[in-house]
Amino acid sequence: MRDDGPSTRIAPITLDDVEGFHAALDSVARERRFLASFEAPPLEAAQVFVEANLREGNPHFVAHEGGRIVGWCDIKRSGRPVHAHCGVMGMGVVADRRGAGIGRALLGATLAAARAAGLLRVDLDVRAANTPAIALYERMGFRHEGRKVAAYNVDGAFDDLLVMGLVWPEGAAG
Ligand SMILES: CC(C)(COP(=O)(O)OP(=O)(O)OC[C@H]1O[C@@H](n2cnc3c(N)ncnc32)[C@H](O)[C@@H]1OP(=O)(O)O)[C@@H](O)C(=O)NCCC(=O)NCCS
Repeated sequence: MRDDGPSTRIAPITLDDVEGFHAALDSVARERRFLASFEAPPLEAAQVFVEANLREGNPHFVAHEGGRIVGWCDIKRSGRPVHAHCGVMGMGVVADRRGAGIGRALLGATLAAARAAGLLRVDLDVRAANTPAIALYERMGFRHEGRKVAAYNVDGAFDDLLVMGLVWPEGAAG
């Protein structure tokens, strides 16, 4: 990772990380520009989410700096039998730590774990205006699969939703 800042450790999430994960998620959500929610769900819901990921073996990594969690990336496997090879990805890095290689490291670790867990396809939605995220996803192998026009409305400003997906060769239709 390129960075002259504090040392960053990327690791699978544990139950000790729930509060830090929740705080990071909340700070990014409150920026209003990136995620589908404007605040994190209650702490208890974050706890349930993390417990489920641990129980189900869904890849979920966090970035630690000192005592702070500065980013996360998770891939939740679909519960439906016909989509059980697919997972939905979500991620974020807190505003003051962007551009330091943390997002790339988080996504790389999470994708590797997803592949090792047998997932064949990763889905994501991203706002069309979110240039840094789209560049990262393209760089990591995601392809553009569609666009939902004016799917977002944030304080009266509309944006399109881009559908992106990554399919590993084992999952490509013959
Ligand atoms: C998207 C996000 C996770 C990237 O994390 P990051 O730690 O800032 O990114 P990195 O420093 O690891 O950069 C990785 C790649 O992202 C792209 N990128 C990062 N910042 C960029 C910027 N300002 N402009 C264009 N591309 C950018 C580049 O491709 C970069 O690779 P490169 O430096 O080799 O060219 C981060 O910007 C973020 O949390 N944004 C807000 C939340 C969000 O958008 N979540 C995803 C919702 S779909």
